[in-house]
Amino acid sequence: MNTLDQLVYCSRSRLAPDDEATAMVDIVHVAAFLNARNGITGALTLQGGVFVQVLEGSPSALDILMLHLHFDERHEEIEVVARNRIERRAFPAWGMAAPTRGQCGVLSRLIAERSTDLTAWRGALSALLAEPA
Ligand SMILES: Cc1cc2nc3c(=O)[nH]c(=O)nc-3n(C[C@H](O)[C@H](O)[C@H](O)COP(=O)(O)O)c2cc1C
Repeated sequence: MNTLDQLVYCSRSRLAPDDEATAMVDIVHVAAFLNARNGITGALTLQGGVFVQVLEGSPSALDILMLHLHFDERHEEIEVVARNRIERRAFPAWGMAAPTRGQCGVLSRLIAERSTDLTAWRGALSALLAEPA
């Protein structure tokens, strides 16, 4: 069986607030293409200047993507808060939760705590993805 890892990281956006929406479209465009090629799925959101991304795929594919992410000047202070082996994907399709206009209380708390509870992060991101844009 293929080994699958899931990780969640937080990073600080270096984007001007006015550029966030366009940048998110660019990121998701590239990510959808490259992630499909690399067997990576997950979800991304941006709230209060903090990116939160859940990523799942083979351990080596995730390690390589994390290296690329460290060189991306659109964000800084990347912190992997949780990483675990998983049985099956929580986000079988690559998804993106639009930058939240309001604040998602659950997500704010997880970000503030830099929670290591992968299940809680997954739940928060799944709830945002389910929301109509
Ligand atoms: C917050 C954030 C999330 C990103 N997520 C992904 C991703 O899931 N997959 C991906 O291939 N690139 C993602 N990127 C873009 C990568 O940093 C990088 O630009 C892309 O992998 C192309 O690599 P290269 O610029 O080294 O050619 C993300 C960038 C940012 C700022």
